[in-house]
Amino acid sequence: MIVFATSDKGGTGRSVTSCNLAYRLGLRGISTAYLDFDFGSPTAGALFEIGSVERGTQPGNGLHSYLRGHNSLPQRIDVRASTNRDGLRRQRSRGGKLVLLPGDEGGGEAMSANDPQVVRRCRELLLDLDATFKVVIVDLSAGRSVAMQIALEATRPQDMPGKQVAWLVYHRWTRQHLMAAQGLVHGPKGLLKTGVELGYAPDEMLSRIRFVRTAVPRVTDEHAASGGPQAAWLIKQNDALRSLAAEYRLGAGALLGETPVEPVLQWREQIVLDADVNAGIAHRATVEAFEELARRLWDRSTWVRV
Ligand SMILES: Nc1ncnc2c1ncn2[C@@H]1O[C@H](COP(=O)(O)OP(=O)(O)O)[C@@H](O)[C@H]1O
Ligand SMILES: [Mg+2]
Repeated sequence: MIVFATSDKGGTGRSVTSCNLAYRLGLRGISTAYLDFDFGSPTAGALFEIGSVERGTQPGNGLHSYLRGHNSLPQRIDVRASTNRDGLRRQRSRGGKLVLLPGDEGGGEAMSANDPQVVRRCRELLLDLDATFKVVIVDLSAGRSVAMQIALEATRPQDMPGKQVAWLVYHRWTRQHLMAAQGLVHGPKGLLKTGVELGYAPDEMLSRIRFVRTAVPRVTDEHAASGGPQAAWLIKQNDALRSLAAEYRLGAGALLGETPVEPVLQWREQIVLDADVNAGIAHRATVEAFEELARRLWDRSTWVRV
């Protein structure tokens, strides 16, 4: 299964959530490759705490160079063998393989989605990884980016018949983020229109897209119990956002899941381990949310067309 992680805005939690999702897939025994296609800011190395690729890999070795034809085999890093984080390393014997393909440090300037060689190289790499790993997660740059265009072109249904390709659109739980996510999917030059131009039937393309709401504030029991004006306001805002999400077709039927606001992630971009929960540092609800995303992503019934 090939999964593209997108968002219209930066700072949505796309990379942090996708890395945690990849980690949770690994724990479920589902071998996963994580491709850092964010041409602007490769962050996965830092998230997995792999010192040698904290800001991407040495120029020439990474994904951007591969796409430009400067190397024929982009670097692959076994996350559990290479991480500096004890808790991540310790689980080495458990679970499926987790491999990172980092971007180049300094990123990828000037690449064109109109270059058939770039698209061909991208397709070949994805097909190769799809044959080796159960899930291939590709973290794309924000917005209607060149990376998104290359990804769409590379996975055209006629070139990848029968392959399961999915799109996750990350957004925060605010009005502007809902508008942005709606635009990325349904707007001009959006995922849907571009997909259809490339040969997808509209309902086929839509059936592959799911939204992920990140860092959703909870109206806590204390709030609700207080019955004060703040609680009333919060509940009203939450309801308004829910109506807006439904109106924009970002509602329950199109949702993969949501993550709660996690203090650890407000302070530090990282993998949230069960050990962090057991130590009383991270919320259990956060880990449960990542697990639920992994479960739903892998569950075939999630992707059944309705
Ligand atoms: N559930 C969450 N709760 C609180 N902060 C979060 C959560 N998820 C992500 N973040 C934080 O949001 C910021 C942006 O996340 P990042 O994954 O880098 O966004 P993007 O890849 O979309 O640009 C980071 O500081 C990250 O730690
Ligand atoms: Mg990112």
